[in-house]
Amino acid sequence: MTNRFYVTTAIDYPNGTPHMGHAYEKIVADAYARWNRLLKNETHYLTGTDENGQKLIESAQAAGKETAAFVDEQVLKFKELISKLEISNTDFIRTTEKRHADVCQDFWTRLQDKGQVYAGKYSGMYCMGCESFYTELQAPDGNCPEHHKPLQKKEEEGYFFKLSEYSDWIIEHLKANPTFVTPRGKYNEILSRLESEPLRDLAISRPNQGWGVEVPGDNNFVMYTWFDALINYYSALSPEQKEFWPADMHVIGKDILWFHAVIWPCMLKALDIPLPKKVYVHGMILAEDGKKMSKSLGNGVDPMDMIAKYPVDSFRYYLLRSISALSDGAFSEKDLIQKHNSELGNDFGNLIMRVVKLSLKAIDPKISGTGVTQELNFDETYSKMKELMEACEHNKALDVLWESVNSINQYVNDKEPWKLKEDPVALTPVIYNCLYGIHATSSLLSAFLPETSKNALVPLSVEVQSFEDIKFGEVEYNLLMPEPLFPKIDK
Ligand code: ME8
Repeated sequence: MTNRFYVTTAIDYPNGTPHMGHAYEKIVADAYARWNRLLKNETHYLTGTDENGQKLIESAQAAGKETAAFVDEQVLKFKELISKLEISNTDFIRTTEKRHADVCQDFWTRLQDKGQVYAGKYSGMYCMGCESFYTELQAPDGNCPEHHKPLQKKEEEGYFFKLSEYSDWIIEHLKANPTFVTPRGKYNEILSRLESEPLRDLAISRPNQGWGVEVPGDNNFVMYTWFDALINYYSALSPEQKEFWPADMHVIGKDILWFHAVIWPCMLKALDIPLPKKVYVHGMILAEDGKKMSKSLGNGVDPMDMIAKYPVDSFRYYLLRSISALSDGAFSEKDLIQKHNSELGNDFGNLIMRVVKLSLKAIDPKISGTGVTQELNFDETYSKMKELMEACEHNKALDVLWESVNSINQYVNDKEPWKLKEDPVALTPVIYNCLYGIHATSSLLSAFLPETSKNALVPLSVEVQSFEDIKFGEVEYNLLMPEPLFPKIDK
């Protein structure tokens, strides 16, 4: 049986330009997608844009443009970012697409047929930035807890989903599936909120202002943007792709956890659709000063500027390795340069350079492993990395991989192959072990740094392979003169 892996990111609001958080989330999800491909799992990676919200209407007005034209323009920036970041998504959904609206309307109709939707009146405190209502308990001072701006009172006729009926069920689901929300701290937060505050029915429509997915049978209303947005994970799958459902991993930030850990599962449960297996909550990228990046504080860093200045893999490496997978992390350009120079340049790039250059000087460029004793073994690295990726701790998986890169460096230092230049019989097995090490570690690195791993293997005349397929002794390396992988950046 083929193992399938379906990973998604949140779909971004395209009202502004893509920011560091958008870039980070896509890179993280990309590492899991590529890792699963390396494990030979059939992998589908969905990302996209959330285009139906009221704030898109307002942002378009502010820009003096038609909403549709404004959104079309904005989305190009998000697509450009993912292309520049080497994101390997296999689909990109825009929630203004017909394929999305059709599935949302079907979803709504089925909920209505099951008696899960009713008409009523809603009164509450609303934040446009979040496109969400807040209760008094959540916002005791009348300010949005995310945006710190006053909430607006909203009173509306509309439709409701009977979310309150699922209070007990969702608690039980969480208790029975303690890794449904990862990391553990976030799981505990959700559970204790559910246990202290019973669920209220959810307003799922908004007055129709000519933008959004119309409520079937009542065009006075469009769907509440969160209601349609969550469905994207399901609506994007064509009938042939439905075998990817349920999703294995929704990658999101903590500000939208409630929607993914509570509302979305309840919506699916109401229609007896299988639930996603995991909601992985990454930390927030903060400015270097540890504060939230914001225009008013002027402490923001634009991801496009970073990839214009530095190799994209240095940017990816820094974010994946230096920012803990389980908590918020401050972005520091200095640290990025430091990682580029020391770990990527010295530990990894120079290793390849010195091993290959020395071999080209001293022995035949065709290096066979026949009869060579294996002195470097990465089976444990691989199994530890598998466990850590399973636990959504990609930064630790990279730590483990880096220990292996350094173990090859240590092996070179211990064996002192430069002293064996006149003795090819003694030199060749040492070199073969190193080349095998470079082959294995570069292949494992391909989940994180796709370009680098490809380029690293060019001087060995081999390609990235699944770890199990790289058999010590069976691969022949044909050496070519290497190019520096990470030229030093002056601070
Ligand atoms: O919330 N660091 O869209 P969005 C890391 N459309 N991640 C961050 C971040 C930061 N500083 N700031 C935001 C939405 N994010 C909805 C999602 S899904 C059905 C609908 C993350 O553009 C944020 O947590 O505001 C979310 O996961 C993603 O970026 C998109 O945020």
